[in-house]
Amino acid sequence: MSATLPSLIAVESLEKHYRDGPRALQGVNLTVTRGEVVILLGPNGSGKSTLLRCLNLLERPTAGRVCIDGLDLTTASRTDLRRCRRRIGVVFQRFNLVPGMSAFQNVLFGAMGRHGLLRTTALLASAALRQEAMACLDRVNLADKAAQRADTLSGGQQQRVAIARMLMHAGSGDRPGRRAHCQSRPQGRS
Ligand SMILES: Nc1ncnc2c1ncn2[C@@H]1O[C@H](COP(=O)(O)OP(=O)(O)OP(=O)(O)O)[C@@H](O)[C@H]1O
Ligand SMILES: [Mg+2]
Repeated sequence: MSATLPSLIAVESLEKHYRDGPRALQGVNLTVTRGEVVILLGPNGSGKSTLLRCLNLLERPTAGRVCIDGLDLTTASRTDLRRCRRRIGVVFQRFNLVPGMSAFQNVLFGAMGRHGLLRTTALLASAALRQEAMACLDRVNLADKAAQRADTLSGGQQQRVAIARMLMHAGSGDRPGRRAHCQSRPQGRS
């Protein structure tokens, strides 16, 4: 971690107490600089997912600050928050795929934040968006499974669809410059 580079993510004195639940986070401080790769390790229930959900305010912290690229999300307007969320890609621990829909449709839904629900349904999506979704699937090596229902894919394949949807969310399906980040295959169940 470099002290000279400005932080991209700055978490200060973060607390999260779930109502009728545990104190999941207490006094968490974290600084991540641009380009830095961080691994969060800890036992089950120690608060890793809670912390990640607090980073884009999917979970509102009880106290503390979360700053992304200089913007304090805990006090940001809804517009700024929405704009910032579009830049944050998340692969959820539970992949949250729509089970009865194809891998392709699930990836298309990744662009919902940019294009809305109607324009991300397979029948109504533009050719460019459909091409972008296929490019995202191709980047996780699942182009051949595009038409398969998500709930019939293996656990690892579902994980890769979730990664492709995250790439789609970030609008990085067709940008060659970003390819290097995604060439290694995801680990885990397959
Ligand atoms: N919505 C919720 N309401 C109440 N308690 C919750 C909620 N979400 C998580 N918790 C509790 O908060 C604690 C932290 O959970 P969290 O999911 O952040 O852990 P984790 O480190 O990601 O665990 P794992 O390694 O199992 O994924 C746990 O005790 C969990 O039961
Ligand atoms: Mg977790």
